[in-house]
Amino acid sequence: MVAAVRVHKTGGPEVLTFEEVEVGAPGPGQIRIKQHACGLNYIDTYFRSGLYPAPSMPFVSGNEGAGEVTAVGQNVTEFKTGDRVAYVSALGGYSAERVLPAERAVKLPDGISYEQAAGMMLKGMTAQYLINRTFKVGKGMNVLIHAAAGGVGVIACQWANHLGANVIGTVGSKEKAEIAKANGCHHTILYRTEDFVARVKEITKGELCPVVYDGVGKATYPGSLDCLKPLGYFVSYGNASGAIENFNLGLLSTKGSLYATRPTLNTYTATRADLLATAQSLFDVVLKGVVKIPVNRTYKLKDAAQAHRDLEGRETTGSTILVP
Ligand SMILES: NC(=O)c1ccc[n+]([C@@H]2O[C@H](COP(=O)([O-])OP(=O)(O)OC[C@H]3O[C@@H](n4cnc5c(N)ncnc54)[C@H](OP(=O)(O)O)[C@@H]3O)[C@@H](O)[C@H]2O)c1
Repeated sequence: MVAAVRVHKTGGPEVLTFEEVEVGAPGPGQIRIKQHACGLNYIDTYFRSGLYPAPSMPFVSGNEGAGEVTAVGQNVTEFKTGDRVAYVSALGGYSAERVLPAERAVKLPDGISYEQAAGMMLKGMTAQYLINRTFKVGKGMNVLIHAAAGGVGVIACQWANHLGANVIGTVGSKEKAEIAKANGCHHTILYRTEDFVARVKEITKGELCPVVYDGVGKATYPGSLDCLKPLGYFVSYGNASGAIENFNLGLLSTKGSLYATRPTLNTYTATRADLLATAQSLFDVVLKGVVKIPVNRTYKLKDAAQAHRDLEGRETTGSTILVP
């Protein structure tokens, strides 16, 4: 039996239950790992609350982690006992040990610690595909990134800055503005008190942005569309303030033949080749020091409920990890 955090019924952070669970031997195509660190992500709150339906009940919460391989199942050729690995996967992350499909794991380079890996696989690979594939950010572009001091936010800001963009970020407080600036944001907007559309117009001298990366959702829609220039891309990749309801397709026409997409990391890393290429691209920028992974908070696994309260209460910045 190993320590884990399970959800028996959906609800608030209080439904996260710290308990012992059975972890069996890996089956064909699977590996078993001893986890050194687990990632905390906003998506964990969606499964916990029921916004995203969990495939089974009860389930072990969490979608990301890093650790060492302790056993391999039949037909696994890519990994052996003792390998350092990390993953983004379906549920089961908040656990001292777990079994997962080998095809979802990647080997960790020597220069990347377990803690760093748990803080970056999901958020960093998301920033990777958003900025390089969903819309290709380039030199001189005005790029708006909401929640710029958050987990995906700080990585996306650094990466877009590295690619030569003029990075504009919204943040919930002055302290967060400093964090966003320290992570590559050229201009910050306090969107809880300032009109972010007016500020984007002012910062870009009326030119507006070819792309808006929006992980906030309900609170920033439809304002985000007003920050786009004609033919701009509304990249709606999350719902931290709640899901957008009744999306009005007609607005894309009236606001300048805009594009809108609702991408997910699952789609962009569905094949083994895509997963490995996305992870490698992230490892490259982190190992070069171009992108830093600020792990600003660490909680014990047993304190997962408090970690969720703090994430949903907008208390966290950068990455947060849980340690078994
Ligand atoms: N589609 C994908 O592939 C994908 C993958 C990873 C993450 N995501 C999404 O990306 C977003 C960021 O994820 P993350 O794990 O890095 O979280 P995070 O950004 O560290 O935390 C969410 C942030 O959203 C902001 N926010 C604005 N309104 C909020 C509200 N009403 N309640 C709570 N927070 C609010 C807060 O920052 P301020 O205080 O600065 O406003 C908060 O810190 C989430 O929407 C997540 O679902 C999507």
